[in-house]
Amino acid sequence: MTSYPRKVKIVEVGPRDGLQNEAQAIDTAVKIELIERLVEAGVSYIEAGAFVNPKWVPQMAGSEAVFTALTRKEGVSYAALTPNLTGYERAASVGASEVAIFAAASESFSQKNINCSIDESIDRFMPVIEAAKQDQTRIRGYVSCVVGCPYEGHIAPEKVRDVALTLLEAGCYEVSLGDTIGVGTIGSVDTLLKTVLKEIPANKLAVHFHDTYGQALANIHIALQKGIGVIDSSVAGLGGCPYAKGASGNVATEDVLYMLNGMGIEHGIDLAGVIDAGNAICSQLGRVNGSKVAQALTVKKTGVVLANSSDIRR
Ligand code: HMG
Ligand code: MG
Repeated sequence: MTSYPRKVKIVEVGPRDGLQNEAQAIDTAVKIELIERLVEAGVSYIEAGAFVNPKWVPQMAGSEAVFTALTRKEGVSYAALTPNLTGYERAASVGASEVAIFAAASESFSQKNINCSIDESIDRFMPVIEAAKQDQTRIRGYVSCVVGCPYEGHIAPEKVRDVALTLLEAGCYEVSLGDTIGVGTIGSVDTLLKTVLKEIPANKLAVHFHDTYGQALANIHIALQKGIGVIDSSVAGLGGCPYAKGASGNVATEDVLYMLNGMGIEHGIDLAGVIDAGNAICSQLGRVNGSKVAQALTVKKTGVVLANSSDIRR
């Protein structure tokens, strides 16, 4: 019998994964407004930035400014990506609530994304994990390319399982499985999760689906059926990875919330508030809102079709 989690935790990655690939400059104030609006809507875990090499990902260069000027709400985790000790020290200096290290299940992607092999990346993460432990800062792990890689194609589920296990054994409290290029389907994600769940309990896993092929909600449903209760998503479906050309944004938070509402699964977030936050950032970026739910409910509420979201201001 299918047994879904009663409650799901949403990890909102829009301000990081969503914005990291934007070529245009985005003011710190705009990023902060996005974060604060999402938190106001009930988001309790948000990736607010990344402390990576600013030459590689210029959009995240201002992460210190974002963390410093944010008005924080009690009980909310403001997390950041930290690929090495330099990144960790930057994150710690501005009081990131949690940090995340990010490995890959594909050697080629690891080289392109973080300029080292998978084994080398684990070596680089060890001082981050040690420092985080000393500071009593929780550390999350990512494995990218869990179904496919833009350079290598198919990725073996066993490889994903092994990297995820390494991250957990090293001290991550949870590992998020990233379908970086959104190629997963019900079939391949089912196979992947069956393999991973043989060694890792569902309460140590999260799922992170990009929606390039429109399969993300179906894949999330498979994860829910297997008892995984942490879902990464991005407001308005913003985003993409700078090292996965053509990959589109994460599954839209609004679409996930609508699906969870329909299933009677608790998440603690106000869908209308997230839609407003998504329409505001899309208007700032001059982008169409990538959430079908946001589009449909905005038309219903305002009569405005989001062919051009600059029509919706605040
Ligand atoms: P590297 O070049 O190998 O690092 O980069 P290095 O140690 O040789 O240092 C080279 C230079 O970078 C030095 O500066 C360092 O100071 C500087 P220079 O002497 O040349 O002036 N540097 C840094 N500066 C600021 N902050 C730092 C830092 N580290 C070194 N933390 C590194 C290695 C990992 C840093 C680099 O490859 C990098 O920043 N890559 C960016 C990776 C990234 O942000 N990718 C996107 C996020 S991951 C993702 O989107 C996937 C995910 O969403 C899950 C999924 O969808 O699958 C998480
Ligand atoms: Mg991602």
